This record gives sequence, structure tokens and C-alpha cells, in this order.
Amino acid sequence: MGSIGEEDRSGNEPSGIMLEAESFLTRLLTIMPPPPSDPIVQKLHAHEIQSMQQQVMPGDHSQDLSSVLHEAMTVFDNRMRLTHPHCFSYIPACPTPLARLGDLLTSVYNVNAVSWDVSSGPNAVEKAMIAWLGGQLGLPDSVGGCFVSGGSIANMTAIVAARDEMLHPTQRGDAVIYTSDQTHISIRKALHISGFMDYQIHKIPSDDAFRIDVDLLRHAINTDRKSGRVPFLLVANCGSTNTGSIDPLHALADIARDEGLWLHVDGAYGASIALSDKNRYLVDGIGRADSVSWDGHKWLFQTYGCGIVLMRKVGSLLRSFAVDAEYLSGILAPQGTTNFYNLSPELSRPARAISLWLTLKTLGRHRMGEMIDQGFLLAQTADHNIRQYKNWIIAAPTVASIVVFQYAPRGLDKEALDALNAVISQRLLAENIAAILTTKIRGRTTLRMCTMNPLVKPETIANVILQVDKLAQSELHNTYSKMANKPHTLCRECSVGVLQDAG
Ligand SMILES: Cc1ncc(COP(=O)(O)O)c(C=O)c1O
Repeated sequence: MGSIGEEDRSGNEPSGIMLEAESFLTRLLTIMPPPPSDPIVQKLHAHEIQSMQQQVMPGDHSQDLSSVLHEAMTVFDNRMRLTHPHCFSYIPACPTPLARLGDLLTSVYNVNAVSWDVSSGPNAVEKAMIAWLGGQLGLPDSVGGCFVSGGSIANMTAIVAARDEMLHPTQRGDAVIYTSDQTHISIRKALHISGFMDYQIHKIPSDDAFRIDVDLLRHAINTDRKSGRVPFLLVANCGSTNTGSIDPLHALADIARDEGLWLHVDGAYGASIALSDKNRYLVDGIGRADSVSWDGHKWLFQTYGCGIVLMRKVGSLLRSFAVDAEYLSGILAPQGTTNFYNLSPELSRPARAISLWLTLKTLGRHRMGEMIDQGFLLAQTADHNIRQYKNWIIAAPTVASIVVFQYAPRGLDKEALDALNAVISQRLLAENIAAILTTKIRGRTTLRMCTMNPLVKPETIANVILQVDKLAQSELHNTYSKMANKPHTLCRECSVGVLQDAG
């Protein structure tokens, strides 16, 4: 077995650095996870960004490592602590200690996972993981794919493959892509990179549960064909970022089959649900996709840089990404294998599969499934508690680990409610109560919680919601006080009544 001390013994690294690193690592291990009293977010103001930039510039001469490490800690102090128990922003990565260990291992070995010659061990793990993950989704044995840096690149890789498989180059200008109004921005970006224009994206409205409306979709495909356009790609959401909604995957797979479209499922967030015994039924049908993107650094509790693209047939990736170069000609993949540089946009790449493998191998799928289920439980707790308080509206069904809600006391017009909810979010963060940021749901400013930290307990959620309600009430009071001087911003029908309520 190799030893991580090899470099040290060979004299390539001064042993002082190793000692410093060792004591620093011990220190690092004690700072996770952050206690609730820690600031959820600490950030540099504009003038501080400038001064920090100047301060951190490397100089011509060497500097003492411990002082640079100290500086690094100050740099990292200025961040949103995504694993803070009161942080519910975006889709936060909450890596397990195992994932951090796997990441460290990957960095220390620093293998280039480009090809079988350079990285046969880690690449065997990557190939096994692709087969295992594909199997969990119900993709066939022909599944292929690779690890990429995240969901955006996974989406882009799949879209390039779909384009090359489905369209003759002369058809690209007439091609149409179907998404819903809840589709993640990375799809639009990927389509732009792949050479498609905005007018080629046919955005289908979603229904009351924020799932693509399949009747409107069928109608759109029909109409587009009649006008000479070339429908070729249907993008399904398996866990939309705004609300966690999951498109009707079987219905979409049927439409894709009937219409001869490529079905890509963006499962960056929601594909992980397939690992839960309890909730797997929600993503039933995902295995009928032609391609799926999936993020390890979302609901598989990995560190950033862990994305996965899966293809029903590995040949689709080869068609788009297989290349040869004179200097690579000596690199032969063993029979039955393909070098990973022929499956993705990258050449040199880290062995990204290792940390997810280490995590799953150690925990097992059942435990991972339970950690995912905890996210469901926390979201249901939030949903339930929000409904107990006056003036709150749940803005979309809570289906996974995302809850969207609005403080909507009667008597305020839309603009006033939007402003009120925005201020509630800002104050929650400023007062270090919680990171509950806003999104727009049907154009309205809405609070949003993503509850996927498996270390958080339902009692914590209940307590946070209590505090959110208290703060909302106090902010409503402020709003009324301000409005007393500007009555025109109140709803005409009920302004008087509400002002009396507020008294
Ligand atoms: C549904 C969905 N797809 C794709 C992405 C992009 O993933 P990444 O940030 O890893 O590039 C996200 C990110 O939040 C997402 O929620």
C-alpha cells in the first residue's frame, strides 16, 4: 500500500510543511459543523474586497507558511456557512466528513483521471460508480457517463450529445428544445454554448404544482412541427430549484418516445431521491431518460466539484467527445473500456468519483437514503409549522426538501407584500436568525428554505419558524407605521380594517 508520506521521505517537500499541514488539519477538524451562535454569513464589503485583494497578493519573496495559513483562515471566514444549522439558502452542499476525507485523499494522490494508463484504479472506481448510479435510477446496463464538475457541465455535456445524436448539422437552426418555466438556468446556458438561440427554446408553462403541463407540451410540439421546425430535445425537471417540483417523468418519457425526442432529465438536485426506499416512488420513470444529470455536491452530501452525467448509451458521449492527438496515441484503453477524455469535454481531470464512492461504500445506500429522508422530514416540519401561524401562505406543494412560503397579511397590495417578504429575508440574515433567501414564484417575492442538512433536527426547524413568524410580525408593524403616512399603498378594499388590526 502506498504511503502519503512518500513525498516527504523523497525530500521533495520540506518536512516542516508536512508538520505545519498536520497541525493545521487537526485544527480544521475542530471547526465543523458550525454552532448556531456562529455567523451564518460573514462578507466583505466593497472597500474591504479591494483591501483584501491587495493584502493577499503574492510577493517576490517567500513568506512564513503559518502566517499564510492564518491569512487563509481569514479569507475563508468571509463566507456563507452552508452547513450552519440555520442556513437554508440555495441548494447548500452539506458534505459528510467522509466526503471531506475522500476529497482530501483525491487531492493528496492528485491522480489525473484522464485515461486508463494514468489512472486505472480510480477510473475503475468511476466506471463502477457510473454503473451503480445508473442502476439506482433504473437505467439499462448500457449506461455510460462520467463525473464532471457539477450540474451545469453535466447538463451541457448531455445537451451536446443529444444535439449530435439527434440533428444533422443543417437542422440546427430549425431545432426546438422544450423546457418548462421552472427549468434551471444552466439549461439555457448549455443550450447557448451548444449553439442554440433563445427563440429555439420553447418554454412550456407549469401547472399549479409547478410541473410541466403535458397537454400544452403536446400541443406545442404539434404546432412547431406544422410550422416546419424540428423538435428534438425535451428537458424534464427532477427536483426544480425553485420549489423542488418533479415533472411527470413517465408522461414525458411517453411523449419523447411517441415524438422521437431525446429526453434529458435534470436531476442535479432530485435524482438522489432514488436512493431513498421511502421516497423513491417520486422519481419513478427517471430511468427512461436518454440522459440524466446528477450532483453529488447537492443531495449526496459531497464537497463541491462532484457532478455526474449519465447516458442511456455511452456511444452518445463518444460521438461528441472522442478525439485523438498524436501525443495521446500511445494511450490505449484496455478492451471493453474507453478513456474518460473521450467521454467528456475535459482532458486532465481529478478523480472525482472517489469521494462519493468512499462515502457510499462506507455508509451504504440505506444510510444515505435515511439522510435524504431527513431532508423530507425537515421540509414537512417547516411546512406544518408555517401553517400554524397566522398570515402565512405555502406558495407551492412541498414535495422534497424545499419549502416556499410568503407572509401575506390581508390588506397589503402585491408590491407591499413583495417588499415585506424581501425585508423579512434580509432581517433574518442580518440578525443571524436564519438564511432564508427569496425567490420569485409566479412573479411574486417568496421566502424559500432548502432543508437538506442531515444534522439538523425537526425541533430546530420548529424553533426557526417561530422566530421567523415573530420577526415577520414585527416587520409588519414597521410596515404599517411607514404606511400610516402613505395610505395609497394599501389595498383599497381592506386598508382600514388592516390598519385597525395592526393597532
Ligand atoms: C436543478 C438544477 N440543475 C442544475 C444546477 C446546476 O448545478 P451546478 O451548480 O452544480 O452547476 C442546479 C444548481 O443549483 C440545479 O438546482
